[in-house]
Amino acid sequence: MRDLFDKIYTDKGPLGKWADQAEGYFVFPKLEGEISNRMRFQGREVITWSVNDYLGLANHPEVRKVDAEAASQYGSAYPMGARMMSGHTELHEQLQDELAEFVEKEAAYLVNFGYQGMVSAIDSLVTKEDVIVYDVDTHACIIDGVRLHMGKRFTYKHNDIESIEKNLERATKLAEKTGGGILLISEGVFGMRGEQGRLKEIVALKEKFNFRLLVDDAHGFGTLGKRGAGTGEEQGVQDEIDVYFATFAKSMASTGAFFAADKEIIEYMKYNMRSQMFAKSLQMQLVVGALKRLDMLRTMPELKERLWKNVRALQGGLRERGFNLGTTQTCITPVYLKGSIPEAMALVKDLRENHGVFCSIVVYPVIPKGLILLRLIPTASHTAEDIQDTLNAFSAIRERLENGTYKRLSAAVAEMMGE
Ligand SMILES: Cc1ncc(COP(=O)(O)O)c(C=O)c1O
Repeated sequence: MRDLFDKIYTDKGPLGKWADQAEGYFVFPKLEGEISNRMRFQGREVITWSVNDYLGLANHPEVRKVDAEAASQYGSAYPMGARMMSGHTELHEQLQDELAEFVEKEAAYLVNFGYQGMVSAIDSLVTKEDVIVYDVDTHACIIDGVRLHMGKRFTYKHNDIESIEKNLERATKLAEKTGGGILLISEGVFGMRGEQGRLKEIVALKEKFNFRLLVDDAHGFGTLGKRGAGTGEEQGVQDEIDVYFATFAKSMASTGAFFAADKEIIEYMKYNMRSQMFAKSLQMQLVVGALKRLDMLRTMPELKERLWKNVRALQGGLRERGFNLGTTQTCITPVYLKGSIPEAMALVKDLRENHGVFCSIVVYPVIPKGLILLRLIPTASHTAEDIQDTLNAFSAIRERLENGTYKRLSAAVAEMMGE
């Protein structure tokens, strides 16, 4: 028999196997200084394009003040215990009511982390007779939630209405046999490529099929819709989203998340979402901080305007220079280039060290082999100068990629990686 830990020494997992070469630089980099358009990486200033602080709230003086005062008043312990037992407060309820009103639902419920909340929400909403239909490219928290499901599940091709319809047909046949229902799950905004989920077309399918729709709007909340209430508002279908989800980890620049739906649904989730029933309540300083952020989101439309001005300048500038931004319809700005993994590593080093530009990089197996995806997240706190410097840097790196400079440099990297 094998020792349980044997595999740990022989197989570190799909990402872990790169740890020796990548850690500290490509993964687990240490971005230092206050969260803003310019931070420090390995001792030098870099323009930061990898933080989802869309509205620039993370370091806003009013937010910092409220956070500090709340921490001083409540510490980080209060309230102790799960919401059901001893961790419930007026302010938790107030935040839920305000969130529900903002996203135009009857009720809302807080969860400590979006990830755990989503896993648990899916678990609470389905029984083994039910069928889940979900986008093949959804966030890991949805995939993990579906993993807990004891019944059938079908994935559909990414954002593909024909495939959704086909899978709803299969799901309907199955659910008719089992006596269950159907839960369809999509993201409001797909975080990697920046497309909006085709919610309008999905909800139109409700005329033909009987299903309930759960939407993870982590990236849409605060950035899309007239008031910033998200992708449902943007597409005019908020009413048809049966369970709406957003995290505080992006536009709200904090920790925590919430679900919003009809009152009866939220009441049910409150008593059945195990990750929240059996976990300590969201800390008060986060609740107070979220109330402040929500207030700013509602009353300071200029934050979203500034964000979109920057999005237009960055995406427009990149497109003018002939860069391929794929199918993005949101702030998320993917730039697709052609190259190998070692070339991508040499390119990112050049970007960071010689141009002072810090963005995330995605390579195979997350995207097809031979493609490099550089992902930029514009925020309200970026400046025109940040954008101009970045556009110039991108032109320079493309030239070096095309003239084979990175190929030559990457030969050394490839050797280092044992390729
Ligand atoms: C689409 C999506 N869903 C869920 C989550 C998880 O949220 P949290 O960070 O609050 O756990 C994230 C990342 O933050 C996300 O991008």
